[in-house]
Amino acid sequence: MYKSLLRPLLFRFDPERAHHLTLHALRMAAALPFGTQFLQALFAVNDPRLAVEAFGLRFKNRLGLAAGYDKNGVAVRGLSALGFGHIELGTVTRIPQPGNPKPRVHRMPEAQAVINSMGFPNEGVEALLAGRRTEDGRRRSSSSVSGLPSPVLGINIGKGKDTPVERAAEDYCGLLQQVAPYADYVAINISSPNTLNLRQLQAKSFLVQLLGEIARVRNDGRRKTEDGSDAGSIPSSVIGHPSHLPLVVKIAPDLSEGEIDDVLDAIAQTGMDGIIATNTTLARDGLPDNARQLKGGLSGAPLTNRSTEVIRYIAKQTLGKLPIIGVGGIMTPQDAIDKFAAGATLVQVYTGMIYAGPSLVRDINKSSISSR
Ligand code: FNR
Repeated sequence: MYKSLLRPLLFRFDPERAHHLTLHALRMAAALPFGTQFLQALFAVNDPRLAVEAFGLRFKNRLGLAAGYDKNGVAVRGLSALGFGHIELGTVTRIPQPGNPKPRVHRMPEAQAVINSMGFPNEGVEALLAGRRTEDGRRRSSSSVSGLPSPVLGINIGKGKDTPVERAAEDYCGLLQQVAPYADYVAINISSPNTLNLRQLQAKSFLVQLLGEIARVRNDGRRKTEDGSDAGSIPSSVIGHPSHLPLVVKIAPDLSEGEIDDVLDAIAQTGMDGIIATNTTLARDGLPDNARQLKGGLSGAPLTNRSTEVIRYIAKQTLGKLPIIGVGGIMTPQDAIDKFAAGATLVQVYTGMIYAGPSLVRDINKSSISSR
């Protein structure tokens, strides 16, 4: 139904507009009586065999929604009802910012791909957290959609456009302190190609210091709630919270093996809990000539193999000990299975949702049961 009816309709709109309409529809659907139950009945697969633990958190299944889809956390209930095991909100910055000039998202249906140069448009961390307070309670894990286990909630944080890289740590540390009571894990985005110099932060010279400062804030602060109690010790009926807030680092697919080794060293030295591989690519392989000139990061089918290669390399280098969230070009259940086989503990989708629609969530979860 998505591919034959909804997608042709959505593809008549500019991609960003279509995306806002989708988020709005999910938000509305979740607000209707029985709306979340309806979505769940269509798309969610609730099977205890799908559950997995990673970095001290229990995930009801291995499939998540990648960052960038719900940047401001406006449709968490609707997205939860689709059956994701985790949802990563953001990228959020300290202050609201408009992002790069439009048009900045381009579909390439013939290549099952998207190029975006959004540059973290978002309403800022205050707005994101205000939404979290009102939509489903102050702390995410205290609520669930229709009594079924909630997805784990990640918040992806990024440097503001006007913050020089030398002062990036101030942004990340400030954001971490703010989002800590509301997130089950925090993703540190140093790999978007659309914020000037952001990817420089992946270089060894910056990274050990940056991650070290972030880890210190995490280790000192623990999970303080607004009333001063320690949220880390509050038991949850849904998931067990680890003693510290897990931090994961999101990397680009364009790093060389040597550069990935540097990132892995920095992760080991600073006690990060996991890695997300990968963000969008600057490569243009697999695209028609007229699309190669577009500025921004490429996602979808042309990224599938490269991101799987990066996952395989990280799993080999870390002897499978570092939890990997695999993302990049998962357009079919088989693509997810390939990423698990390469060493991913969890996977995420974004562009696959645009081309295959929400049934991709159901299909990946179903095939994960049969492939176990
Ligand atoms: C993204 N992605 C992204 N990643 C991130 O860490 N922060 C962000 O704000 C965004 N924003 C964003 C916008 C758009 C329009 C797209 C298509 C992608 C990257 C995304 O999370 C993912 O890493 C890549 O898109 C690769 O996965 P897919 O899309 O091939 O499944």
